[in-house]
Amino acid sequence: MKVIGVIGAGQMGAGIAQLAAVSGADVWILDKDVGALKNAKMSIYDSVQRFVSKGQFDKEVGNNAIARLQYTSNLEDLRSADIVIEAIVENEDVKKKLFAELDKIVKGSAILASNTSSISITRLATSTNRPHQVIGMHFMNPPPIMKLVEIIRGADTSDETFNATKKLAERFGKIVVCSKDYSGFIVNRILMPMINEAFHALYTGVATKEDIDAGMKLGTNQPMGPLQLADFIGLDVCLSILKVLQAGLGDIKYAPCPLLVQYVDAGRLGKKRGIGVYNYRKSPKL
Ligand code: NAI
Repeated sequence: MKVIGVIGAGQMGAGIAQLAAVSGADVWILDKDVGALKNAKMSIYDSVQRFVSKGQFDKEVGNNAIARLQYTSNLEDLRSADIVIEAIVENEDVKKKLFAELDKIVKGSAILASNTSSISITRLATSTNRPHQVIGMHFMNPPPIMKLVEIIRGADTSDETFNATKKLAERFGKIVVCSKDYSGFIVNRILMPMINEAFHALYTGVATKEDIDAGMKLGTNQPMGPLQLADFIGLDVCLSILKVLQAGLGDIKYAPCPLLVQYVDAGRLGKKRGIGVYNYRKSPKL
């Protein structure tokens, strides 16, 4: 895996590209939005400096990693990739369209991986002529810090593809768990109902947002409460995942809380937009 393509330069794609570059690969990071590419470049630079200042790798490793990253909006630039990891919007049709285009561009041996939180890998694979080489590679947020990668095998994913992807995740310093291809896989199947329930608690006035988060943080020994975590993930991402869980598992218990839907409708998408359940802007206070 010498050349790695990452598509989507948002909060996940930037982190994945950083991991790939630090692991020694030449990396192409692609986004349709030039502004997102600029932000990714800055956030990767800042993140690498933080790792260097904490002594997690030396300056030379950091500088080399930054030099190995190339930014583009042209899919053709990913032609030489050994693996492409997709981290675009959580929408099945959009991802399928991208996979179909990629399939025509990248070399025959290349693996197409998706960082999807919940969408069926088996269905994504049907948009390509290489279903044996399509796999889920689900990083946690933020990718450079979180230890886990969930690997999801579609119905046709080959052992070769699985082994190569697992090896790559381990090269990135990650611990792998393997999930079958059912909506939400392991982590989001269990996490999203908890986040949704926290929204219901807020919606029905059980407690303030601060007390819901403090209750779960201190009462169940989690590093942050579920509402704050939802803000970090992105409320739009949480909403999309809940819809996929509801449709895929056919259970009303996954129906998104109306308050979550309303926040997303209002553009309160979480930390990345400066406002979600909490206000991350300096003023006004919520
Ligand atoms: P984001 O909204 O921060 O970034 C998505 C990026 O994809 C944007 O920069 C957008 O311009 C770009 N994009 C959208 N459609 C595109 C296309 N057709 N071609 C090229 N670029 C395109 O989203 P985020 O949070 O990084 O999530 C990305 C994926 O990772 C989603 O599938 C999400 O479910 C998954 N994920 C998200 C996690 C999170 O905590 N936010 C955790 C694990 C997985």
